[in-house]
Amino acid sequence: MTTNFKKDVLEGLTATKKSLNSKYFYDDIGSRIFQEIMEMPEYYLTNCEFDIFQKQSAEFFNTLNFKTHFNLIELGAGDGLKTAELIRYLTTQNISFTYTPIDISKEANDLLCAKLKLEFPLLNIAPKTGDYFEILKDLQNNQSPSLLLFIGSNIGNYLADKADELFRLFNQSMKVGDKLLVGVDLKKDPAIIHKAYFDPHGITKRFNLNLLTRINRELGGNFNCNNFDFYVNYESSTGEVRSYIKSLTKQVVEISALDLQIEFEAGESIWTELSKKYDLEELEALLKKAGFKTIQHFTDSQQYFSDSIFEKR
Ligand code: AVI
Repeated sequence: MTTNFKKDVLEGLTATKKSLNSKYFYDDIGSRIFQEIMEMPEYYLTNCEFDIFQKQSAEFFNTLNFKTHFNLIELGAGDGLKTAELIRYLTTQNISFTYTPIDISKEANDLLCAKLKLEFPLLNIAPKTGDYFEILKDLQNNQSPSLLLFIGSNIGNYLADKADELFRLFNQSMKVGDKLLVGVDLKKDPAIIHKAYFDPHGITKRFNLNLLTRINRELGGNFNCNNFDFYVNYESSTGEVRSYIKSLTKQVVEISALDLQIEFEAGESIWTELSKKYDLEELEALLKKAGFKTIQHFTDSQQYFSDSIFEKR
């Protein structure tokens, strides 16, 4: 992890247009700040998706058309709050399934399992820690059908070619008839979207600047966070929210582990995150290219968010 982090920070900060990859937001502190983000009223995504899972889990299951025991596999399970709603439905209906949360953090997985075991003592749970694709490789040999969950608008953090690659890889590890449920944030009033990422509490700013603190700690940097600000652009034609850290002054920052001095002009930006919003046609086209057929979209009452089910052809 550290070596990739080192390499990516070097590459990102020495490029003509500086950038840092948002996947590095999630150290222990960053993960805690993300929990705070999910609890803000402005970050409507969590509530909308929770609402869909709470009200439409029965329809999800009917749509799957699974008649036997099945695997419920969640990619990047996190706190499992939304999935618990689906698990509750399946459990009360005595539907036979095994839940496999996959997460890179063993700690997050252990915590999730302990929490679920409390509420669902009979739950068949087989957590896996590590890289998605290593773990998904086993799926093709499994006799039972599978539903893969890739929720939380996580796909929004991937650039178009990476999103395409990711869905193709999912497809390759699935059996014909297996299903994929993707949670996406939909295009909507730009003011609502902008406020979700440029919140009045400064929590998302803290989330971004934590990356500079992480570089200081892990790579011996000397970023002074007071010399940096944060801003967000939403481009409604592409649905792209882009987040940036901005240098407030002309300054030089040193990163000892990279043997590097980085010069910043006053007002110069570091691009930190893409959070893309989709429309349903665009999502369908992306999945179709990767070998999936659209089964059904489940949206909340305001049509802010969709949990869409696709089938491997
Ligand atoms: C994890 N991911 C889907 C979040 C998003 O909405 O892009 C991360 C986030 N960044 C700022 N706020 C939330």
